[in-house]
Amino acid sequence: MRIAILPGDGVGPEIVAQAVRVLEVLREEGLTLTWQTEPMGGAGYDAAGDPLPPATLALAQASDAILMGAVGGPKYDALPRDKRPEQGLLRIRKALSLFANLRPALLYPELAAASSLKPEAVSGLDILIVRELTGDIYFGQPRGRRRNAQGDEEGFDTMHYSVPEVQRIARVGFEAARKRGRRLCSVDKANVLDTSILWREAVTALAKEYPDVELSHMYVDNAAMQLVRNPKQFDVIVTGNMFGDILSDEASMLAGSIGMLPSASLDAAGKGLYEPIHGSAPDIAGQDKANPLATILSAAMMFRYSLARADIADRIERAVRGVLAQGQRTGDIAGPRDKVVGTRAMGDAVVAALRQR
Ligand code: IPM
Ligand code: MG
Repeated sequence: MRIAILPGDGVGPEIVAQAVRVLEVLREEGLTLTWQTEPMGGAGYDAAGDPLPPATLALAQASDAILMGAVGGPKYDALPRDKRPEQGLLRIRKALSLFANLRPALLYPELAAASSLKPEAVSGLDILIVRELTGDIYFGQPRGRRRNAQGDEEGFDTMHYSVPEVQRIARVGFEAARKRGRRLCSVDKANVLDTSILWREAVTALAKEYPDVELSHMYVDNAAMQLVRNPKQFDVIVTGNMFGDILSDEASMLAGSIGMLPSASLDAAGKGLYEPIHGSAPDIAGQDKANPLATILSAAMMFRYSLARADIADRIERAVRGVLAQGQRTGDIAGPRDKVVGTRAMGDAVVAALRQR
């Protein structure tokens, strides 16, 4: 198993370091695991003038799976768009055809008090957001800036989806629902957008192949509201790139903290890039404050989806649940009376729990 490690920027290096300690434990036990690290995002720009340096992309292409931290930071905000850290992430997703982004929002019972909603609204919460990741307004052409007929400067982007693009992500949604609660909610804006009307038609047509899954449709504005009103009504949500970006950040707060949520971005063959859904948090970078659990849980997803070792994924997830049960809390998930531990100490606790089996 060859893994590409891309720590990125901000808190990325320190949280990825804790996930690498988990890999080290597994390797010591005899798992045939190798990894190599390359810079990406702002770190890629600093090292090679490119947020996705050729050597980084080559390593990602040659690996079985990719474990990433986060990219971005104020230092890079003034760069032209093609040099910005976020472009490195968008390019690697596109170059590797990582079209299926799985973002589970799972509330650990120990963290019910950390959620922004009342414990009864979120206890037992277990939602999977399936976000399309290589299309939509993120990649649509034409885009840019121009002068309009009045001589005013304007910016423009293009939203589009083809039927095959909708079908392949909807299929991921239906298959995931089949393995869970058998309910799929497709989120769109079909009351306004032509792209969404086509999306809804394509998803509806595919539903014939999945009679065992109950399909519903919801407008994105309503979905944003329902997520905070009654989130437990959802099992699997499937949606486009932009709506999924927004709804997954919203859903993360239901689970207590964005610092808890892992993600997988998969191609058609199951190769994937794994990253916490939170960003690079430059305000706390280098201070041993960031929560490494989302990254460690991303490594668990990597074993489940790309490395065919669901047993190891289960074991890592059990270790994380164990440290939460012990009361270990980084600042983002701590209650007023909890003792706060740092990034490294949280890593220590996970490593110790993992060693105990
Ligand atoms: C995410 C992030 C990215 C996105 C940014 C950093 C480009 O917000 O992974 O959700 O918009 O997809
Ligand atoms: Mg986002």
